[in-house]
Amino acid sequence: MSVLELSIPRPDDWHVHLRDDAILAKVITDTAQTFARAIVMPNLSPAVTTAASADRYRARICAALPASADFTPLMTCYLTDATDPKDLEVGFRDGIFTAAKLYPAGATTNSHAGVTDLAFLDNVLQTMQRIRMPLLIHGEVVDPAVDIFDREAVFIDRSLAPLVHRYSELRVVLEHVTTLDGVEFVYSQGPNVAATITPHHLMINRNAIFRGGIRPHFYCLPIAKREEHRLALRRAACSGNAKFFLGTDSAPHLLSDKESACGCAGVYNSATSMACYAQVFDEEQCLERLAGFASEFGADFYGLARNSGTLTLRKGATLAAPADINVGGGKIRHFLPDDPVSWHIDSLESR
Ligand code: NCD
Ligand code: ZN
Repeated sequence: MSVLELSIPRPDDWHVHLRDDAILAKVITDTAQTFARAIVMPNLSPAVTTAASADRYRARICAALPASADFTPLMTCYLTDATDPKDLEVGFRDGIFTAAKLYPAGATTNSHAGVTDLAFLDNVLQTMQRIRMPLLIHGEVVDPAVDIFDREAVFIDRSLAPLVHRYSELRVVLEHVTTLDGVEFVYSQGPNVAATITPHHLMINRNAIFRGGIRPHFYCLPIAKREEHRLALRRAACSGNAKFFLGTDSAPHLLSDKESACGCAGVYNSATSMACYAQVFDEEQCLERLAGFASEFGADFYGLARNSGTLTLRKGATLAAPADINVGGGKIRHFLPDDPVSWHIDSLESR
């Protein structure tokens, strides 16, 4: 008999962009209504590069939360060529930072201040390895000669494999993995190397970006790859292997910035992500593994307690696209794939 209702411990989002100011005020509810905690990306402009700036950003997020919300933002440090290992260590010990984020300079939105050469990070990575602070990696090379669809695989060969070899105890998350190569690499490493997987990379391949014309709302970085890669991601997510856990990479941009001659990368999925993940796990006939992927493995990797509280999902009518979010004069569009999603969030019990 097919399952029509599924209750899982309240999930966490191990990779989200909450932005700041007016956009933060609008999008925070979608995350806080579903997830108990989220790893908040630091790619603001200017980036969140110090413990003091992360502490202030956290305060702005908490101030933007609805009064009824039960949600904890977990802050990250944006690594640069000049990151001070002492500030990172003190920030981590003080509970301001949960992790640090490595953007190769120029790889994605607001990454121009990122790292130009991993050699600059030696002291930082030695420190992180010693204090067991997770390193979250945007795994794409920025070499313009490398084809956009190969940038993750080439990064693994050129940068990630040497990095995990050199810092063999470092806790590393290959964020938003999009390739079979990435999945295989993560499998080949010890338990200190893990990956997050987005709902959109489980649901669309690169054809979706071009079906019937160019479709900017399916454009994100790393870009969706060939079907064989999507299938590898689905197998990894549904494997029950604790190295693979939920990270939405929800990345809101205004419609005017997406639907443009040079549109921004990023998919906004905070409100639809859990329905999408449930749809994928249902299609793969492994709904019983959704709780591990969404609510357990990430917390275990980060050494945090698993959540109490319950999220109940229900299968029924096709999920309708939520209305665009109005922000100032602009709008933000929610992610939904072309194929129908028949799951939705039914209820949430915080504790
Ligand atoms: C992200 C953003 O807009 O901040 N965009 C995206 O396509 N995922 C940056 C990132 O995570 O690469
Ligand atoms: Zn991201």
